[in-house]
Amino acid sequence: MSKDGIVNLIRPELANFTGYTAGKSLEEVEASARFPINGVIKLDANENLYGCSPKVMEALSKYDSFNLYPDSGQRELKRLLAGYTGVGPEHIVASSGSDQMIGLINQLFVGPGDEVINFPPTFDIFRFAVALYNGRLVDVLRDENYNVDVAATRKAITKKTKLIVLANPNNPTGTPTPREDILELLDTGVPLLADEAYVEFSGETATNLVPNYKNLMVLRTFSKWAGLASFRIGYGIFPPEIASYLMNIKMPYSVSAASTIAVRESLKDRDFLMERVKKIVAERERLYGELKKIEWLKPYPSKANFIFCKVLNGRARQIYEGLLDRCIIIRYAGNHLLKDFIRIGVGKPEHTDIVIKAIREIG
Ligand SMILES: Cc1ncc(COP(=O)(O)O)c(C=O)c1O
Repeated sequence: MSKDGIVNLIRPELANFTGYTAGKSLEEVEASARFPINGVIKLDANENLYGCSPKVMEALSKYDSFNLYPDSGQRELKRLLAGYTGVGPEHIVASSGSDQMIGLINQLFVGPGDEVINFPPTFDIFRFAVALYNGRLVDVLRDENYNVDVAATRKAITKKTKLIVLANPNNPTGTPTPREDILELLDTGVPLLADEAYVEFSGETATNLVPNYKNLMVLRTFSKWAGLASFRIGYGIFPPEIASYLMNIKMPYSVSAASTIAVRESLKDRDFLMERVKKIVAERERLYGELKKIEWLKPYPSKANFIFCKVLNGRARQIYEGLLDRCIIIRYAGNHLLKDFIRIGVGKPEHTDIVIKAIREIG
């Protein structure tokens, strides 16, 4: 069949769908760098540059049942994650990364023409997931300090509103949403997805509200604090009714046995991992201070493991490209809202030193 023929068969609304732009690969960056330094410094995807717990590697090397499917009912995972989050296992559903859970939640709530309220600039997977299910994204812009505009949100709600998506703290801005605002959003009665991918760095969570609200879903991940981004381990804390719908629609073996082992061992090594989180938080504050010293940059305070920064001299793209030339990857989205902004992940102290020196050279 010709290529044209396939276009006629797929869902028409996906024919021109552009998808999600993921970060650059290490190989790509190494191959094109003009002034390569020793290895690539990857500060574009908010990963944990300290790595995962050594206990994960040890336990994986001893596991001898990779030939068997994992438990589709996620019994051990639910128990472990319930222990970690302080809610009952009936509230927990795990997924292959929290990205996958964002997709599942949209699949559950959003049909063609349904509306989802979004607070840009924010995590682009929200737009991506809504588009996949043919929903309509209703953007309620954040204010000049990147806080959510609750009054405007209330006005934006219609009979078709099925979901509000809130990254807390927000990506890419690092802004936390105060609890009063979360409570006001919950009082609208619309299902609220509070994505807390960076909660271990921010220390603020809405988890304890879940047992009292039928419309609150809190999303978490092991990608950031536990250094397990490549394992793809996300989970949500849901009202039990929503949790059981999600268990029904998820693919059966969506979290691997290897990921379950990684969760178990990370939670055993929680104190060790949280010491690293503390180091990252301290380094975040140092990076913020160093960026602030550069007069043509305006960094924003952050509760996550990255710093959002306005480039006041109009050279955001040049900074991004100049850093790439030096094998340093940061995030530059370049769209209309973010044309003058960069986002820099927090690494180890030596990464801060290298990136600050390079930014000064390029600027
Ligand atoms: C707000 C937010 N949610 C979710 C994710 C994705 O997490 P995961 O690796 O669990 O899919 C990210 C990753 O950058 C994020 O910033």
